[in-house]
Amino acid sequence: MMMGLGSIVHLSSITLLCMHHHTHQTQFQFQPFGFPYSNSNNLLPSLSTTIPGWGIKLKSKTLSFSFMASATHFQVSSEDGSAPTQELGSSPSLAIGQHDLLIVGPGVLGRLVAQKWRQEYPGCQVFGQTVTTNHHEELTKLGISPSLKWTKEDYKFPYVIFCAPPYQSSDYPGDLRQAALCWNGEGAFLFTSSSAPYDCNDNGFCDEDTPVVPIGRSPRTDVLLKAENVVLEFGGSVVRLSGLYKEDRGAHAYWLEKGIVESRPDHILNLIHYEDAASLSATILKKKFRRRIFLGCDSHPLSRQEVMDLVNQSGKFSKRFEKFTGTDDPLGKRLNNSRTREELGWEPKYTSFAHFLETL
Ligand SMILES: *[C@@H]1O[C@H](CO)[C@@H](O)[C@H](O)[C@H]1NC(C)=O
Ligand SMILES: *[C@@H]1O[C@H](CO)[C@@H](O)[C@H](O)[C@H]1NC(C)=O
Repeated sequence: MMMGLGSIVHLSSITLLCMHHHTHQTQFQFQPFGFPYSNSNNLLPSLSTTIPGWGIKLKSKTLSFSFMASATHFQVSSEDGSAPTQELGSSPSLAIGQHDLLIVGPGVLGRLVAQKWRQEYPGCQVFGQTVTTNHHEELTKLGISPSLKWTKEDYKFPYVIFCAPPYQSSDYPGDLRQAALCWNGEGAFLFTSSSAPYDCNDNGFCDEDTPVVPIGRSPRTDVLLKAENVVLEFGGSVVRLSGLYKEDRGAHAYWLEKGIVESRPDHILNLIHYEDAASLSATILKKKFRRRIFLGCDSHPLSRQEVMDLVNQSGKFSKRFEKFTGTDDPLGKRLNNSRTREELGWEPKYTSFAHFLETL
């Protein structure tokens, strides 16, 4: 089931969104044509081991919940953020504050969003919805209260951001619906989608106005577009992100690891640093948009070869990349999000991949 869904994700753009902003990113392999899939049972949602309720981080100033009688188990961590130390046999009833945030799929990107959000709203509570308990301890340490359970019956949140990738879900649009039901309709609901649906694969120019691939042409864009439509129906917004990267994650890191890559070198790709994707997402959330679609990229498209030439020339990586060997796989696109920037008053910190390399 999940193997098949892996093909939703495409290396040119969404791969980098998906393979790196989730907590399970270390377990991916690539099919020959560049589509990642999971080979790990760890990714199977382990619903049978569901721990109901949130792990609550106890902090003197965020003791904003009261305890009520029920059988729910809560994980409570100590003030210094160390691992859960106590299971309470009573169910706290959470008081959700007006800036509290639920992150569905709190991987690399979600965690950075949490960080930005807390800077913006000190003292707010941040919650994380996950499909396994694998990273709950880590999340708790970061001050993100994790839960396996959709809480729509019990709790709704003013801000909800969905950062989970499609490949580990058998019903991605359904997941977006669940997330939407956790939103109380007040602040904002944002889906971090991909720039993959823009209908352009001849290395052509593309911006927020470019039409998307029609439903029915490709399963991997279908699933994204259907998910986006669910979000828009609920009044949420979408940010279509290009290839996410940081020093040790992203296309360049993957290609460095491989050395020889069976893709064509002249395919143009588009990048955005994780930190910039997070600041962009937080900006959109903060502005409480309804039913809008934004584009996240650094507006400095590069060919695969250019990316790896820059990596080599930077002298910042010990591995050596050899070559791209593809000849007839599809080309990419050149993204420009000047309209998104203007409307949001947002600019990336890493204005280009070359600029990023200089900061290392
Ligand atoms: C990598 O960079 C070094 C110098 O920084 C250069 O001599 C070499 O030709 C480069 N290799 C490739 C494949 O571009
Ligand atoms: C992006 O598009 C805007 C408006 O269409 C244009 O003014 C700008 O020069 C473009 N930026 C790049 C980097 O191509």
